[in-house]
Amino acid sequence: MKKIFVTSKLPGNAVDSLKKDFDVEIFDKHELPTKIEVQEGAKDAIAILSTVSNQIDKDIIDTCPNLIIISNFGVGFENIDVPYATEKRIYVTNTPGVLTETTADLAWALMFGVARRVVEGDSVVRKGQFKRWDPSFLLGMDVFGKTLGIYGLGRIGSAVGRRARGFNMRVIYVNKSRRLEAEEEIGCDFVDFPTLLGESDFLVITAPLTESTRGRFGLDEFKKMKRNSILINIARGPIVREKELVQALKKKVIWGAGLDVYENEPEVEKDLLGLDNVVLLPHLGSASFETRERMTEMAVENAKLALNGKVPVNLVNREVLKHRN
Ligand code: DGY
Repeated sequence: MKKIFVTSKLPGNAVDSLKKDFDVEIFDKHELPTKIEVQEGAKDAIAILSTVSNQIDKDIIDTCPNLIIISNFGVGFENIDVPYATEKRIYVTNTPGVLTETTADLAWALMFGVARRVVEGDSVVRKGQFKRWDPSFLLGMDVFGKTLGIYGLGRIGSAVGRRARGFNMRVIYVNKSRRLEAEEEIGCDFVDFPTLLGESDFLVITAPLTESTRGRFGLDEFKKMKRNSILINIARGPIVREKELVQALKKKVIWGAGLDVYENEPEVEKDLLGLDNVVLLPHLGSASFETRERMTEMAVENAKLALNGKVPVNLVNREVLKHRN
C-alpha cells in the first residue's frame, strides 16, 4: 500500500478512513517531529498531512519524490515552501472556512479577557486575595459602544466584525481592497491605516502574514493608538514586533494586549510574561472539539481527492494545475 505520513495525531476519526487504502504512519509523540523525523517519515509518502507547526521546506520536499499532496491542517500555510511545492507539481491545500467562527470567538474572548481583567481576577481569587468587594478594585474597560478596528477583513476578520453588532460598536477596517458586501453585512467603514490606529479602542489583527504585513505593528504604530486602546493578535505573531509591544505595554503607550500568536512561536518574549496588562494564549484560535474535528475531515478530504486523481477543493497553489496538465 502507498504511504501517507501524518505529522501529528489529529482530532476525530477522519484519518482512520484512510487506513483501508493506504499505509498511514502517524507521528503521535507529544513533541513536534524534528526535520529529520519528518524526512524519515515522509520519504516514501504520496501525501503528507502537516500542521501549521511543521516547516515543510525545500529539503523535506526533496526527500519525497513520490509526493502528490501536502495537506495542511490549518488555514495558514506559510509553514510550507509553496513555490517549491508548485515547481515539483505537488498540491498544497489548507482548511479554510471551518475555523472562521471559532477563531473569531477567540478574538472576543481575548478582548473581554483583557478589557475586563478576567485573568487577573481569576488569579486574585485563587491566591485567596479576594477579601472584600472594593469600588475601585481591578477596574477595566467597557467593550459595549466602543470602536472596533479590524486589520484584515477576510473571513475571520468579518466574523469578528459581525459579532460587534450585539455590542453596539462602531466597526472600522483596513484591508488590501474594499469589501462592499462585508461593509453592508457588518455595517463597517473602510479606513486608512492611520485612522485605524488613531480611532480604534480595540484593534484586532486578522490579516495573513505576508511581506507587507510582517512587522507592521511596532512602537511607532502603538504611539499613534489611543492610550486606552487594546491590541489583539489572533493572526500570526510576526505581524507584531514583540519587543516593541513589550515597551509599549510597560510604558502604558497602549492600555493592554491579548495575544494568541507570537513572533518566534512557540517561544514567547520573556518580558511579556511579567506584565499584567497582557493576556497570553498558546495559539488556541481554532481549538474547539467541533472545529478541530472538521479541520481533520477537510484535510483528509483534500488528500483523498488528490490521491484519487482529482483536484482538491482547498487548493492554495492553483498554478500547480498548469504544471500537472
Ligand atoms: C490556522 O489555521 O492558521 C490557525 O492559526 C491554526 O489554529
